[in-house]
Amino acid sequence: MSTTLISGGTVVSANGTLDADVLVAGEKIAAVLAREVTETGEAAPAADRVIDATGKYVLPGGIDVHTHMEMPFGGTFSVDTFETGTRAAAWGGTTTIVDFAVQAKGTSLLATLDKWHSKADGNCAIDYGFHMIVSDVNDQTLKEMDACIGAGVNSFKMFMAYPGVFYATDGEILLAMQQAARSGATVMMHAENGIAIDQLVAQALAAGHTDPVYHGLTRPPELEGEATSRAITLAKVAACPLYIVHLSARQALEAVAQARDTGQNVFAETCPQYLYLSLDDLARPDFEGSKFVASPPLRPKDHQASLWSGLRTNDLSVVSTDHCPFCFKDGKELGRGDFSKIPNGMPGVEHRMDLLHQGVVAGELTLPRWVEVASTTPARMFGLYPRKGVIAAGSDADIVIYDPAARQTLSAASHHMNVDYSAYEGMEITGRVATTLSRGRTVIDNGEYLGAAGHGAFLPRGLNQYLL
Ligand code: URP
Ligand code: ZN
Ligand code: ZN
Repeated sequence: MSTTLISGGTVVSANGTLDADVLVAGEKIAAVLAREVTETGEAAPAADRVIDATGKYVLPGGIDVHTHMEMPFGGTFSVDTFETGTRAAAWGGTTTIVDFAVQAKGTSLLATLDKWHSKADGNCAIDYGFHMIVSDVNDQTLKEMDACIGAGVNSFKMFMAYPGVFYATDGEILLAMQQAARSGATVMMHAENGIAIDQLVAQALAAGHTDPVYHGLTRPPELEGEATSRAITLAKVAACPLYIVHLSARQALEAVAQARDTGQNVFAETCPQYLYLSLDDLARPDFEGSKFVASPPLRPKDHQASLWSGLRTNDLSVVSTDHCPFCFKDGKELGRGDFSKIPNGMPGVEHRMDLLHQGVVAGELTLPRWVEVASTTPARMFGLYPRKGVIAAGSDADIVIYDPAARQTLSAASHHMNVDYSAYEGMEITGRVATTLSRGRTVIDNGEYLGAAGHGAFLPRGLNQYLL
């Protein structure tokens, strides 16, 4: 079994920092050796290879629990495949994704799961798991939820938005939540009031408002707040764990915080785009705003401070990307002249760790909190801990060596996602991934990709480890 010693770095965990060397044997972490001890006479362990991490952070690999590779949506497909998307993730220090299998209406959950395995298996550069999108609630679907749990998929996303596509009624949501609750599985909610939004969209189009900014103006934050409160109430009645995905609005955060204060099993994530981008980006001229169309929409800037604060108080526990890239050319352009036809989704899987580190640089997050929201909590929330999300003996050797002093400029010209624009074009970042290991294998090293499609393995997941 080959061994690697990562020496001289600062191990950052959710609990703090430690000057320590990390010994990797095969696919696992064999030991974390605090340097105080090794420097007082004990010889450093011999290893086949030594990586010098002096001046760098040594982190558990990032875990992005919300991605959409090759997702059928809006009459097209998101443009990153499992191969290109997981490669881009590794460039940015993410070593696990949890992607969404999408049940089409009239199809079974198990057939859907098989279909998603056939897209991902043998193609991923890093490890991966699945959530299941439930868009057709019926007796068979409800029964099959248990079979999904048996197959390692125990989180089910439902939509209060997109009537006629993914939308579920309150009654259907309640039934699915009751079913999930019997096994302790989590329902993930896209919480926007789609019925009301559709009326606002029709009114805007009838008034001749076709520009991308109307995507934001017809999905007001109040309708995210209302849907979030309704989801929380339904989850309470069903006694079901609830995880609000891609939370963007202060009103929704207030509802989550209130529920958590009462001890309900309610959790929420936000995404970098809601921390850094705003309605002003959706209003960029010459259809440029279409690059920023995602749902929920980017909000007015003043929501951002609330989201950073929610990350500090743990009312927001996770940062994921909702990576769902569509090219500008032939993708976003489908909505020229009608904002409601712009495919919803933004690219981001490559930049989550860097953008959150920028939050550390700006004093919004501590170093340990960075690791917690980007790796440790996602692992616990989605049943992967302690295999993932921590640098500890026995855990998978998913390790990122991060240079906090490096500088980079984000750009479509240099990113590795399969998409023709960057939502962060020109943004200057302090910090950069130097090396990414996935189960002991070097995938990225000093600007070189050394991974391989098919190295990534499917991860059957356990239950949410935060349930009260
Ligand atoms: O606009 C978005 N968020 N696209 C991806 C699908 C979803 O709702 O997460
Ligand atoms: Zn969604
Ligand atoms: Zn999504």
